[in-house]
Amino acid sequence: MRPKAQPGSPVEWEGRLRSESPLKIMVMAHGRGSGTYTKIKASMMENAKLSLDGQEYDLPVVTGTEGERGIDITSLRGESGAITLDSGYGNTGSCQSSICFINGEQGILRYRGFPIEQLAENASFAEVCYLLIYGELPTADQLKAFSGGLTNHSMIHEDMKKFFEGYPASAHPMAVLSSMIASLATYYPKIEGDEDEDLNFIRVLAKAKTIAAWAYKKSIGQPLVYPLNHLSYCGNFLNMMFSVPTEDYQASPVVENALNVLLILHADHEQNCSTSTVRMVASSQANIFASLSAGICALWGPLHGGANQKVLEMLEMIRADGADYKKYVNLAKDRDSEFRLMGFGHRVYKNFDPRATILRKACDEVLEELGVDDPLLDIAKQLEDVALNDDYFIERKLYPNVDFYSGVLYRAMGIPTNMFTVMFALGRLPGWISHLKELRDDPGSRINRPRQVYTGATQRDYVPLDQR
Ligand SMILES: CC(C)(COP(=O)(O)OP(=O)(O)OC[C@H]1O[C@@H](n2cnc3c(N)ncnc32)[C@H](O)[C@@H]1OP(=O)(O)O)[C@@H](O)C(=O)NCCC(=O)NCCS
Repeated sequence: MRPKAQPGSPVEWEGRLRSESPLKIMVMAHGRGSGTYTKIKASMMENAKLSLDGQEYDLPVVTGTEGERGIDITSLRGESGAITLDSGYGNTGSCQSSICFINGEQGILRYRGFPIEQLAENASFAEVCYLLIYGELPTADQLKAFSGGLTNHSMIHEDMKKFFEGYPASAHPMAVLSSMIASLATYYPKIEGDEDEDLNFIRVLAKAKTIAAWAYKKSIGQPLVYPLNHLSYCGNFLNMMFSVPTEDYQASPVVENALNVLLILHADHEQNCSTSTVRMVASSQANIFASLSAGICALWGPLHGGANQKVLEMLEMIRADGADYKKYVNLAKDRDSEFRLMGFGHRVYKNFDPRATILRKACDEVLEELGVDDPLLDIAKQLEDVALNDDYFIERKLYPNVDFYSGVLYRAMGIPTNMFTVMFALGRLPGWISHLKELRDDPGSRINRPRQVYTGATQRDYVPLDQR
């Protein structure tokens, strides 16, 4: 785990390159308020050369523990007056992070070094939350205390219950979730000190599931169900979602287990849009609730967390059109058509998405165990079959992605379509929190403030209204 640095003191830690050669990295820690930044010195440092206006600039190359390289341009503007331009940030490393490693070509996803397959198979969501936030798997005692916290802080302030009465029944649950998480700041105003901050991590993880379930209950006009302390994290959420005062409810262990896996698979994915948003907002030293609420809003978009909802909407469209899935497969292959099969292909994972592989298995088990008979899921299976056997999809490496299987699974579990992105947010919370903590623990972190290349009008004089 990264050691804590005192301002002004050098900190060293050992890492390993993929080639297994030892890598010694030295971080020079500077005071937060001083306006200086973390400087990296690696013993195996190379330099990249940039030539501009006939002048050469040496730019240090920073190498991560998995051999990924980044050209450090921190001093570029100061020395040359130029900035780099990378619209969409596809080539920009915004930070150094020890939380999550992805290799899209090889289909690798690891949290804190642990393969996602092993975590999904063996861990509980609470364990993964602890791992992401604190960097190590918890001991039995640590897990007991942490899980106990997640249980004991599940209730939300009774006054907040009134907020739900103010929203229209048609409110999208993502709007409710983001505003409720921001509202937690009114009940837990920032108090300086590590202990309170850690308690806020627990609070937000514990209360988010209650808020999410209540947003759903409100939307269907059912009474809000309080959390029960004898239930697990996932069991509690399912109980608040699906139980009603008029009859007994017991969550199916198959569904509870599938939810645990789904939350783990979504827990982190390094510097994506919502995580970068959380880091951006937190970099201004805004409070944790405001930072996480911003992350939820970023996740809401259809190009990010909203994609799993799109999968189900596509399946519904195909069913409404006579379930002729082959017609839509042909449409997706047609160069003249803009139609794409939602839930197929991935920007990063070109071989396979390890999360999709795990979910595919979980899908088979859940559908069989629950004996779900759903024409939408039949269409999904037929589309999956095509994608795995059709040359068009094979040549372009268009496998069903995590959103495809998570959409299908949530549907089978009885989660309504407009709650899919909320489920994603519940899973991603520990990732966001761990990035926020990493940023705060870095004594060299500064407010995130990109620059731009201005392309607007050059200076001109104000024209009075009657002369325009
Ligand atoms: C995820 C996605 C944006 C990745 O895009 P990308 O890496 O930029 O891939 P490209 O857009 O360059 O596509 C490469 C080729 O595959 C085709 N293709 C990509 N995704 C496709 C899909 N879902 N259905 C049909 N064809 C698809 C493209 O038309 C292109 O074909 P061409 O080489 O004949 O022109 C893209 O696959 C997509 O739009 N998928 C559907 C939306 C989705 O599921 N999003 C959630 C992602 S987690």
